[in-house]
Amino acid sequence: MAFPRRPSTVLRYVIPALLLTLTLYILAEPIDFSLVGPLLLSTPLGRWCFPSEHPIDKLIKAAEEEFATTISKETQNLADAAAAYRKRRGRHPPPGFDEWHKFAKDNKNAIIVEDFWDQIYHDLEPFWALKPAQIRRNAREFEMRIEVRDHKASTGSGWFWTQIWLDMIKTIEHLLPDMDLALNAMDEPRMVVPWEEIDRHMHKAARTRKMVDVKKVVSEFGKLPPLGQAPPEKGEAQKITWEHDKHYWLIARRGCPPTSPARKAAIVIDFNQTPAIASPFSLAHMQDGYVANYTLSTTVCHQPDLQALEGIFVEPLSVSATKSLLPIFGGSKLAVNNDILLPAPMYWNEEERFMGAEGASIPWSAKQSTAIWRGVATGGTNRPNNWRSFQRHRFVGMNNATQLSLARSSSSSQTPQPPPNFALSDKRYRHIPSPSSPAFTDWISSTTSIALTDLMCLYPDARPSCNYTAPYFTLVPAVPMAEQFRHKYLPDIDGNSFSGRYLGFLRSTSLPIKATLWREWHDARLVAWKHFVPMDSRFGDWYGVLEYFVGVGGKGGRDDVAERIAMAGREWAGKVLRREDMQVYVLRLLLEYARVVDDRREVMGWVGDLQ
Ligand SMILES: *[C@@H]1O[C@H](CO)[C@@H](O)[C@H](O)[C@H]1NC(C)=O
Ligand SMILES: *[C@@H]1O[C@H](CO)[C@@H](O)[C@H](O)[C@H]1NC(C)=O
Ligand SMILES: *[C@@H]1O[C@H](CO)[C@@H](O)[C@H](O)[C@H]1NC(C)=O
Repeated sequence: MAFPRRPSTVLRYVIPALLLTLTLYILAEPIDFSLVGPLLLSTPLGRWCFPSEHPIDKLIKAAEEEFATTISKETQNLADAAAAYRKRRGRHPPPGFDEWHKFAKDNKNAIIVEDFWDQIYHDLEPFWALKPAQIRRNAREFEMRIEVRDHKASTGSGWFWTQIWLDMIKTIEHLLPDMDLALNAMDEPRMVVPWEEIDRHMHKAARTRKMVDVKKVVSEFGKLPPLGQAPPEKGEAQKITWEHDKHYWLIARRGCPPTSPARKAAIVIDFNQTPAIASPFSLAHMQDGYVANYTLSTTVCHQPDLQALEGIFVEPLSVSATKSLLPIFGGSKLAVNNDILLPAPMYWNEEERFMGAEGASIPWSAKQSTAIWRGVATGGTNRPNNWRSFQRHRFVGMNNATQLSLARSSSSSQTPQPPPNFALSDKRYRHIPSPSSPAFTDWISSTTSIALTDLMCLYPDARPSCNYTAPYFTLVPAVPMAEQFRHKYLPDIDGNSFSGRYLGFLRSTSLPIKATLWREWHDARLVAWKHFVPMDSRFGDWYGVLEYFVGVGGKGGRDDVAERIAMAGREWAGKVLRREDMQVYVLRLLLEYARVVDDRREVMGWVGDLQ
């Protein structure tokens, strides 16, 4: 019989009781029990008797299980991959599926778990409700395009991002049917189709989802006329209206269900004050103060308070949005947008300023146990009357020891100065004193190096000094990515849109701590708390996360756990976030896209395994 690891329940109570009696006996005087309890618990024996689980321990355990379930679905051959496809998608795979599989498995050594492509189906499904000729026409007439004819991809555009996407698509052009791809040249996504309309589209699309009789299946794609030659049928002209209202929340929220808090909550129009930070709206995706459902945490529909906590909703740099469902491809989007995701150009390009490949392999033990963040005050156009609602300003502010001590200052000489753009939380942590104590300030300044490199002063009257934010921020020189990897912890905060550093962070030996509202091509293949640490967009969990991993004064940290997640993320990124995986993703995406814009789409498919 194995020796039990933990004492029996009875012993758990008997030992502390004995100890307590002993202590009482020795001291033989009245005792403050509130002191003795924690004292006893903090001894190794106490911890042995009362093992207490941190909420993050539970989340990490759940993530391990989720990940194990996902990879257990890996398929090894074409027939199994096709069966997994049919089961998950309710249709036959698209024509060319066999070539896709060969490319993925044999050429690129990709891990094939059907769930990894969920984003493609999320993005394309509503298009099954539109007429193929209409989608083709919208793509053909869009201002920026990549065109594929006879297995050759080309573009008339010299735009930087388009050139990079072309470079990516050219690597798979030999496997692509004819198509026109409309590309978003802006940082910001383009479409928010009203939720009600998408709901109708989804119902209509669901009716096309069926397993067509194998004998009726068409397994070739149609051809398009050569470039510059008009197609025989024009497709229905659609009147497209572009909206340029910079108050993007008004546009974004129509992508939410009519009963959602985002649709019902009052609209904030005055951003000239400290926004409310703590909010019960976060409870839906949190558990004991930490993000428990990462996907949900990146959805705004249940979080209307974020309208005053994210630059994208307050005043993005540019807005060109439409309610029309158009086949526009882009690198990132909010959950309410209907754009079709491609891997972002900087990921394909592996630019050093986003990847920091040089420093990506620094051993964990050689790093400092500190968190670093450097960046520009992006998020949109910050102005004297709205900057307090910008996420990067908030994150930097709440890591500023001076601001923290000014806020709590209760000494006779000074009256407290409430933080301009964040709130002192009264949340209690396990080992750190409350944020309103000097010890907390010391702790923050010794564990973080978080600062802006540029105030991003676009507001004409304030240039060049940016006198409304300058008093609160000291600018520091930028730190190259490779140098940032000398620190163990890498918080990642959205800028104007998604953060292009994320892939570099994941591939590194440091630990990314990710707060975002942006969706990317790879989301379905990453598991929060397994490959990275998720953070709520209000950052209310930041101090707790830092405390959990770093501890206080060399005590209570979980350096080994942090290292394990950092390495798991790096190893996984080396298997499923390679350039090869981007190619495999894009090839699958474009085969599906080519089918949904084909007039015969409902009978098209690959059924080679069923014949
Ligand atoms: C997370 O939230 C989504 C809704 O966005 C829901 O569908 C999913 O079931 C939730 N996951 C868990 C593990 O609760
Ligand atoms: C910033 O400068 C402008 C223009 O000189 C001035 O009108 C404004 O009051 C200043 N704001 C602050 C906060 O000092
Ligand atoms: C921290 O806050 C103080 C007071 O607001 C400010 O003077 C200082 O520049 C800030 N430091 C950084 C690194 O932003």
